[in-house]
Amino acid sequence: MDVIICSDQDQAGARTAAKVAQVARQVGPRVVIGVATGSSPLQAYSALAGLIAAGRLDLGQASAFALDEYVGLPWGHPQSYHEAIRQTVTEPLGLDPTRVQVPNGFAPDLAQAARDYEHAIVDAGGVDIQILGVGSNGHIGFNEPTSSLSSRTRIKTLTEQTRIDNQRFFGGLEEVPRHCLTQGLGTIMDARHVVLVATGGHKARAVKAIVEGPITAMWPGSVLQLHRQATIVVDEAAAADLELAAYYRKMYDNLPDWQRLPLA
Ligand code: GLP
Repeated sequence: MDVIICSDQDQAGARTAAKVAQVARQVGPRVVIGVATGSSPLQAYSALAGLIAAGRLDLGQASAFALDEYVGLPWGHPQSYHEAIRQTVTEPLGLDPTRVQVPNGFAPDLAQAARDYEHAIVDAGGVDIQILGVGSNGHIGFNEPTSSLSSRTRIKTLTEQTRIDNQRFFGGLEEVPRHCLTQGLGTIMDARHVVLVATGGHKARAVKAIVEGPITAMWPGSVLQLHRQATIVVDEAAAADLELAAYYRKMYDNLPDWQRLPLA
């Protein structure tokens, strides 16, 4: 696991974008990017849009797969992740909308929709780089605590904590769906690279558990300790509880040139 401690949210966004751009350049124009919703990756998406505007990156032929979607929100619902991905990823990054997929939480047969989603990822050749945020309870995607560490895309029940955390996007807690379709932890682990970005003091406990705690389904993101190419990008506030912070800083400052992220 590479842990990169940044001075603030903007630097975390720039370094997350730099990691995505590095993999995209290595893979080529048909790169497959796993994209996340939530506020955490927004600075990274802005930084990627900046690289594209400057002619330093082109994602026009890339494909993207979102992590998750609420169950029961119709197409075009402003709080649906379909809509969030369209507004924060597809349009600003100039992706071809026909190559951007989000699980179908409005499908009449959700179990089939989940299986179809797994097949679509495989048919695209698998995810080259997965962008992740993390919930305050350590969830990645919508894999809530006690999710199987080898789970695949499926229906999950949201915890009350997640519904409370996400009610700010809705009219109130009652309007927040109770279920979702989410890629499983096993699905996420199949991505060739993962980059998780977390900022703010409210994420410090989850970051500590994911990076330095035991691998446990109680902190689902801790499964990333088993991933061979995982990068964790945090700001000072989210890094506050890390025991080995000085070591991570020293490691990053002394990376040989070939391992450095290109400056975004
Ligand atoms: C949601 C999403 C996750 C996201 C998390 C954190 O529940 N399903 O993919 O990482 O919340 O959100 P935020 O980045 O807004 O803190």
